[in-house]
Amino acid sequence: MAIDQTRQGELAAATARRRTFAIISHPDAGKTTLTEKLLLYSGLIRTAGMVRGRKGGKTAASDWMGMEQERGISITASAMQFPYKDAIINLLDTPGHQDFSEDTYRTLTAADSAIMVIDAAKGVETQTRKLFEVCRLRRIPVLTLINKMDLPGRPPLDLMTEVEQALNIHASPINWPIGSGSDFAGIVTRADHRVQLFSKTAHGGATKVDVANMVLADLERSGRVPPDVMEPVQHDLELLDIAGNPFSRDQFLNGDVTPVFFASALTNFGIESFLDAFVTLAPCPSARLADREDGSEYPIDPVETPFSAYVFKLQANMNPKHRDSTAFLRVCSGRFERDMMVTHHRLNREVRLSRPHSLVAQERSTVEEAYPGDIIGIINPGLFAIGDTISVVGGFNFKPLPQFQPEIFARLRPTDVGKRKAFDKGMEQMAQEGTVQIMRSLNDLDSLVAAVGRLQFDVLQYRLRHEYRVETVLDALPFSCSAWLGGDPATFKAPSASMVVKDQRGRVVVLFGDQVMKTIARDRNPDHTLRDMG
Ligand code: G4P
Repeated sequence: MAIDQTRQGELAAATARRRTFAIISHPDAGKTTLTEKLLLYSGLIRTAGMVRGRKGGKTAASDWMGMEQERGISITASAMQFPYKDAIINLLDTPGHQDFSEDTYRTLTAADSAIMVIDAAKGVETQTRKLFEVCRLRRIPVLTLINKMDLPGRPPLDLMTEVEQALNIHASPINWPIGSGSDFAGIVTRADHRVQLFSKTAHGGATKVDVANMVLADLERSGRVPPDVMEPVQHDLELLDIAGNPFSRDQFLNGDVTPVFFASALTNFGIESFLDAFVTLAPCPSARLADREDGSEYPIDPVETPFSAYVFKLQANMNPKHRDSTAFLRVCSGRFERDMMVTHHRLNREVRLSRPHSLVAQERSTVEEAYPGDIIGIINPGLFAIGDTISVVGGFNFKPLPQFQPEIFARLRPTDVGKRKAFDKGMEQMAQEGTVQIMRSLNDLDSLVAAVGRLQFDVLQYRLRHEYRVETVLDALPFSCSAWLGGDPATFKAPSASMVVKDQRGRVVVLFGDQVMKTIARDRNPDHTLRDMG
């Protein structure tokens, strides 16, 4: 009994230390730079610059797939774990390209919070907006980091208004910038009016820097900052005190307010204080809702419920040296131990979780134990599918992962017909991983692929070439939406610019040129149903 209590205490303490999060941003806002600074300040790397500079040909720690390196973008989502002060941080890497896939959405389901990085000159951009929406749907609290303050940027009050209006959330600045670009002098913490002084010598940001501090009143008296830079700061601070949104952690955890910080990730400026605030404010893993077999909802407490986890991502052939597939699991409750026997809920059978690993860049390290919030990779001999729940007690399933409606469609075939078998095998694997959705013509002769973003097609072709040695030809199809068809396909009156196909589970799907065509089809076929996919 005493031993059990000690173990529960250890589990509760380990859970309380976990911060599992993702960075959401538009490409170029500074996600890679911030990731690198996290590694620098955690002590995992000593010199920044080793893991970045992708465009200069070096490899970012989080970018390990050949194509990511070639194109300088991060396609696959992996997870990194490192300590920061008393916290254990799990950083989920989400693709940062303009196009994005369902993978990104699914990865966000494994996060307990998100950091939204915004470029001070550009404000809220399209991909940030889309990813933010996913966080809102999943009720994931978001911290905002306005980056690149060392470059000329937009007035900070404008940026606050934009965050509030574009994302429909209250913004509550925790600190405020003093100038920007060549005038950038530092940041002042609103609560105590202490200033961190920006120093140009910190430029480059390869190593940690000590930041000089002083109180705002002393800075004003010192005359170090010209009055035309200082005056707007005083004006803004007064305005924020009168009219701004007061910060409340409860409202932040509820997704009603985002705390805002200003920084310059490249020069390390503002990063340490941001990280300190992040580990204080961001939530540790909490209860997750699951469905019991009788349909009732059941909260899975991270400490009270014995080990449970779900699969949020599958990835084949991650390492050419290990030709295998990996299922990534997010631990939701209890302590995981290597070689543990668990129930696979969907298959209703026992499986042993052997060879678990975590990832730091290309390095795999074997995991002996893991706690709620941690991500583990398990060698997948075809047992796991996305969304699968595993646990030691059984009797429930975590909520299904969100699926998104495909928006682009194409026909895909191998250039060499002799490669049909390898092509089919590769396609099956990619579909299982959720890289794309696969459809077939009703006569089974054509393979069609459907995706949320164009990048998914590029990844598919790249991986078929490199992992299955199959060159393919992709013909884009002029469809932009789809629906499952209920009723007899033979009597369905298809509108022009549409096509009837079937999905992987044999369900009949109609592809439409646009939403108008879908509406016309509904009107024309009152005896059929057209149910939106996703
Ligand atoms: P991403 O992962 O969000 O796409 O952005 P990334 O960190 O790669 O940053 C995009 C560019 O912005 C990089 O420059 C990076 O050095 C720069 N950057 C990031 N944070 C800051 C900042 O606080 N201040 C300034 N001045 N620049 C910043 P690049 O020249 O495009 O790439 P690279 O050759 O440095 O890799």
